[in-house]
Amino acid sequence: MNFARIDGVSLSFGDKVVLQNCSLDIKAGAITCLIGLSGSGKSTILRLLNGLRKPDSGRVIVKSTDLSTLRSEGLIDFRRKIGFAFQFAALFDSLSVADNVALPLRENTKMKPSEIDRTVHVTLESVGLEHVKDRMPSELSGGMLKRAGFARAVVNNPELVLYDEPTTGLDPIITHILTDTIKRLRRQLNSTAVVVSHDLASIYAMADYVAMLFEGAIIEYGTVEEIQKSPNPIVQQFLQGSEVGPIPL
Ligand SMILES: Nc1ncnc2c1ncn2[C@@H]1O[C@H](COP(=O)(O)OP(=O)(O)OP(=O)(O)O)[C@@H](O)[C@H]1O
Ligand SMILES: [Mg+2]
Repeated sequence: MNFARIDGVSLSFGDKVVLQNCSLDIKAGAITCLIGLSGSGKSTILRLLNGLRKPDSGRVIVKSTDLSTLRSEGLIDFRRKIGFAFQFAALFDSLSVADNVALPLRENTKMKPSEIDRTVHVTLESVGLEHVKDRMPSELSGGMLKRAGFARAVVNNPELVLYDEPTTGLDPIITHILTDTIKRLRRQLNSTAVVVSHDLASIYAMADYVAMLFEGAIIEYGTVEEIQKSPNPIVQQFLQGSEVGPIPL
């Protein structure tokens, strides 16, 4: 079953065409990893999925709602049900880790303070950060910052969690921990996840499905095994990180 679908979407910035008749199914309860060259439009696809961007043409459908039918209030409501872990954790520097994670609950729910404290505690525990809850973001390592960003993205039990480059620039051990955290959170929340990543080892470890974006459209889609066996020379060149092949450099 699909949780979401990008259906024949085209999108340009000025005269730069980013997506051209692009379609992608996001299967419910799965982790879908989106790969592709830098600047190919991966982050743009995440922004389409949470309604931060509108397509020039085509439709974005999430849980059988066409996002173009939502007016501003409906869109704000909709966005609250989606967690977004940004590439740069984007925490507020002036708030402690716990207060950063509590923010979506304080702003968007009627939970009592004691309930908020408990939920923040459980969420920080699930990403292994309970012990640093009173620290400021500037006192965390890069991997901890990412996990704090995950905690904030999932604290209100979203049905869909979007991760933009969750492991980029981190060491292999932290990468492993973050990859496991994404898998565990997906199970615990019984949610659906879309992960943009350049980290093939991490993708192979967590993806139920992989989609490759190239020149505005999804050129390959399947399980890890199917992607690895893809006969498409563009996919093979990308996976092998080779300079030689059909991808224009
Ligand atoms: N708000 C914007 N205004 C103008 N151009 C934009 C805007 N957002 C994205 N772009 C352009 O659209 C293209 C796709 O951007 P996007 O951020 O989606 O790529 P990406 O695949 O996430 O790249 P990366 O791997 O480097 O993060 C890029 O060429 C980018 O410069
Ligand atoms: Mg990006």
